[in-house]
Amino acid sequence: MTDQAVALRAQAITKSFGPVRALRGVELELRAGEVTALMGENGAGKSTLLKILGGDYQPDGGELSIGGEAVSFSGPADARDAGLRVIAQEPEIVPWVSVAENIYIGALGAGGFRRSRLERTATEELRRWGFDRVIDARTLGADLSPAQRQIVEIMRAVIARPKVICFDEPTSSLGDEEVTLLFALIRQLQEEGVAIGYVSHRMGEIFQLADRITVLRDGAYVGTKTVDETDHDELVRMMVGRDLTQFFHREPAAPGGVVLELDGVSNEFVQDISLSVRAGEVVGIAGLVGAGRSELMKTIAGDLPVDGGAIRVDGKARRFRSPRDSIRAGIGFAPEERKAEALLLERSVRDNAALAVLRSLSRWIFVKDSAETALAQGYVDSLRIRTPSTEQLVGRLSGGNQQKVVLARWLATAPRMLLLDEPTRGIDVGAKAEIYAIIDRLAHEGVAVIVVSSELPEVLGVSDRIYVMAHGRITGELPRAEATEESILALAMDEEVAA
Ligand SMILES: Nc1ncnc2c1ncn2[C@@H]1O[C@H](COP(=O)(O)OP(=O)(O)OP(=O)(O)O)[C@@H](O)[C@H]1O
Ligand SMILES: [Mg+2]
Repeated sequence: MTDQAVALRAQAITKSFGPVRALRGVELELRAGEVTALMGENGAGKSTLLKILGGDYQPDGGELSIGGEAVSFSGPADARDAGLRVIAQEPEIVPWVSVAENIYIGALGAGGFRRSRLERTATEELRRWGFDRVIDARTLGADLSPAQRQIVEIMRAVIARPKVICFDEPTSSLGDEEVTLLFALIRQLQEEGVAIGYVSHRMGEIFQLADRITVLRDGAYVGTKTVDETDHDELVRMMVGRDLTQFFHREPAAPGGVVLELDGVSNEFVQDISLSVRAGEVVGIAGLVGAGRSELMKTIAGDLPVDGGAIRVDGKARRFRSPRDSIRAGIGFAPEERKAEALLLERSVRDNAALAVLRSLSRWIFVKDSAETALAQGYVDSLRIRTPSTEQLVGRLSGGNQQKVVLARWLATAPRMLLLDEPTRGIDVGAKAEIYAIIDRLAHEGVAVIVVSSELPEVLGVSDRIYVMAHGRITGELPRAEATEESILALAMDEEVAA
């Protein structure tokens, strides 16, 4: 795969947002029939580069060419006309029309189509890529899961048969089955000679998919390697600029008394959940997407009602009517859908970091600006949040850096119990290690922690004890010493409870 035709070349691309130099002289080459991965820490400039390729942003300098011809895009329509598609991470879906209409929006001429015909065409197209198994062309936009919305966005791109297609962390909202389908789709696109750009923080995916890897650091171009000539450690060094220990291993402290206890808790989403978490303990919850893990976290936090069973905190039965109640009881909850559920995009990093603290403190305690700033700055430093200052609006940060702000918020509340749903999703390899260390430190300070994670090495690395869920139930409990990827997967795929 060495002398494939270059489909897209970006040379010496620069882009600034006010004082932030997001890109400073970046190179990228995407070749027909190849997957080129784009890697780098949170805020390195990956999404900015893709937005330039997609015509959403205009570069300050540099050149773009497609098939050897110089191009410049004044908007997304130009990029599309040139045969280039970038899959948006948060696709815009029209809620009141069907999947079929959502897919063909934009592709439709003024005349429009009969709905039945559109649905048939969409179904055929979904079938061509195997997605008909996980999405129905007639479903309304409003009823789509995040994974299905992502699939609609991918379909919008592939129906145009583009020459170049770029994905920005496409798997972060997908479950295992959808990831398998996405990888199959990418292989098929590759065979058809499409040039593919692929942004991801997941090393496993990169080595599974990519032919070549381009690394950015702080908006600068570090280099490009073929998969055969590089390895995990070298890529980490290129991204982070230093060596990192590959696996985190927690030294558990002696756990204290039981902080949280669930006794046969049931509702629409989870059935008969019994579990306990002690002070100083990190309890992992593993399972496949759809197993009910996030719903369980929401139930504990008071975001979903409890229809049966009991939740006890420090031995006392509690009934939380909203997350505010659980925060008052000392429970912090960092949900999975951080952006939608947790961040004020139009407020500063400082305000966002201080928000949970303010809520957890009594109303009449006045938190001084300077204290807030110091607190926010501390987390900016320890989590390596890439922002020009704590006054920057959160909405202007890169995706991964927004995630870090949410985590900072909950870490800052110093809760007695912390529920973390996919705490490192979208977070780069360097900051992951920092987050594991913070979880470990909190546990040693006596905080009870629950970590939900789809990444098995992460669950195995941080947890003292692991519960596995399938179909809304707990299918097993494993002490860390007995837990392996195999033993967890066997429980996660437990078929008996399906009936
Ligand atoms: N609209 C904007 N206004 C101001 N700054 C921005 C804007 N968009 C991006 N930036 C900044 O540009 C830099 C690069 O951001 P970008 O989103 O490209 O990073 P990324 O590599 O995609 O990171 P992540 O892995 O977290 O998604 C960051 O410092 C970010 O805060
Ligand atoms: Mg990004």
